[in-house]
Amino acid sequence: MTPRKIIIDTDPGQDDAAAIMLALASPELEVLGITAVAGNVPLALTARNAGIVTEICGRSDVPVFAGASAPLKRKLVTAEHVHGKTGLDGVELFEPARPLETGNAVDFIIETLRNEPERTVTLCALGPLTNIATVFERVPGVVARVKEIVLMGGGFFEGGNITPSAEFNIYVDPEAADIVFRSGAPITMMPLDVTHKVLTTRARVQRLRANGNRPSVAMAGMLEFFERFDEQKYGTDGGPLHDPTVIAWLIDPGMFGGRDCNVRIETGSELTLGATVVDWWKVTGLPENAFVVDSVDSERFFDLFIERVGRL
Ligand code: BDR
Ligand code: CA
Repeated sequence: MTPRKIIIDTDPGQDDAAAIMLALASPELEVLGITAVAGNVPLALTARNAGIVTEICGRSDVPVFAGASAPLKRKLVTAEHVHGKTGLDGVELFEPARPLETGNAVDFIIETLRNEPERTVTLCALGPLTNIATVFERVPGVVARVKEIVLMGGGFFEGGNITPSAEFNIYVDPEAADIVFRSGAPITMMPLDVTHKVLTTRARVQRLRANGNRPSVAMAGMLEFFERFDEQKYGTDGGPLHDPTVIAWLIDPGMFGGRDCNVRIETGSELTLGATVVDWWKVTGLPENAFVVDSVDSERFFDLFIERVGRL
């Protein structure tokens, strides 16, 4: 089996860290690089956190590039209230031994798409879409070279999590999301509708910790911090583990269900800024531009996640 080549564009974030771990642990995937974007916390922290996660996994061979420090047209909105001041609260942090790459994330993505054979590189987007939109704006020709974009973002039946109608990643940079959804690249979208079905229950976090290896123990600590906010908000046992759904989709798409839809992004309204308008019932006649996932076998998801992180 030839592993699928991916670039992870991310704003770690405990659930981003979980996604990076799942990817690094999985032989089906080859992580060409990690590109950081401002989101959950400012860029200096998301870039550092990506390096911390690769080092915890014993995979400092994977290069980390810093990208956009602010959305295309707006002031950065961050989420320390969810992720803590560092973005990765819940585990002891350190300065990564391997420094950041000197090049920019956007250049790295462009170069990689140009150098790798056409339609062999998948972009996994776990944060605001600023880096990827900048790539498409700067070199529109590379869109056709992308195999697929799999992104965590949006919410439809489930509503929003940062405003009543917007999910955080899309809300932070709606203009970037609009560019990506209009780009013509094949998109798979993991909205809150599916991620809210993947809950880090106490029993699951205990199973993860019982793996005993450094990444599992570190991730268990991060999840215990991360879930407290959503547990209080939603009254659930555990919180949603958003970003690893993107990676699980690439490894075992059979655990998910969804449908092709037209998706548009609200960029004008103050009230519903960043809303993802999903034409689930095909009432507009507009062309489908994304596969929208809404269901998951959560036991199968956690069996995969816990087993894989245990391998690191
Ligand atoms: C998304 O926002 C961030 O806080 C998480 O890392 C995830 O990517 C969920 O809305
Ligand atoms: Ca994220």
